[in-house]
Amino acid sequence: MDPSQKLSQSWDANAQVWTRAVREGLIPSRKAATDAAILDAIRARAPKRLLDMGCGEGWLVRAAREMGADAVGIDGSEALIEAAQKLDPLSDYLVLPYEDAAEDPDALGGPFDAITLNYALLGETIQGLLATLATCLTPSGAILIQTLHPWSAADGRYEDGWRTEDFSAFEGEAWEPMPWYFRTLASWQRVIAGAGLRTAGIREPAAEPGAPPLSILFVCERT
Ligand SMILES: C[S@@+](CC[C@H](N)C(=O)[O-])C[C@H]1O[C@@H](n2cnc3c(N)ncnc32)[C@H](O)[C@@H]1O
Repeated sequence: MDPSQKLSQSWDANAQVWTRAVREGLIPSRKAATDAAILDAIRARAPKRLLDMGCGEGWLVRAAREMGADAVGIDGSEALIEAAQKLDPLSDYLVLPYEDAAEDPDALGGPFDAITLNYALLGETIQGLLATLATCLTPSGAILIQTLHPWSAADGRYEDGWRTEDFSAFEGEAWEPMPWYFRTLASWQRVIAGAGLRTAGIREPAAEPGAPPLSILFVCERT
């Protein structure tokens, strides 16, 4: 099985443990800074309509709704979308792999004032999806991408390539290892520009001032 297929499959296998980890606040970096960072970035755009791509169990869709946005969640994992719908029957959730979304912008139901990808761009081939999402933005809209910070996540090997997350930080749970594609900062910039977007801002959330960044958050607008 190639890494992209294994990546998608891992999210079905991990749906239950992932849902518990998110809902019970078991991911320290999220509590320390990264949840607040993506919420602040959304608030700054004051979106009327928001699309959360790779929404997982739906926490960001629920949070965006609480901010007053009309929010939609899309994910490739049926099990995660089922978990999202069960907790939040009033929001719109859709099972749609990125590969299909990239080919069919109409299926996404834009235009959106904000499109979020919170730790949800994990594969190698993402430029086509970003280019399609760019066409689903309102003229003043933005795509907000939060991901692993390349300098913190490099682990001594600063070059693009597939890595494996074994979730060993979550002891005592049966996690399926997840392949994910590491990108250098320059590689992120290339893929964003190649999708017809410009980087309007970069945030580097940290637990406290001066501490190493826990993530990187790109604010991308249409060129
Ligand atoms: C680390 S989880 C993040 C979930 C959510 N954004 C959050 O902040 O909790 C990554 C999500 O991306 C989704 N995903 C990854 N690759 C995908 C693909 N090719 N098509 C659709 N969804 C994908 C997974 O199913 C998973 O729900």
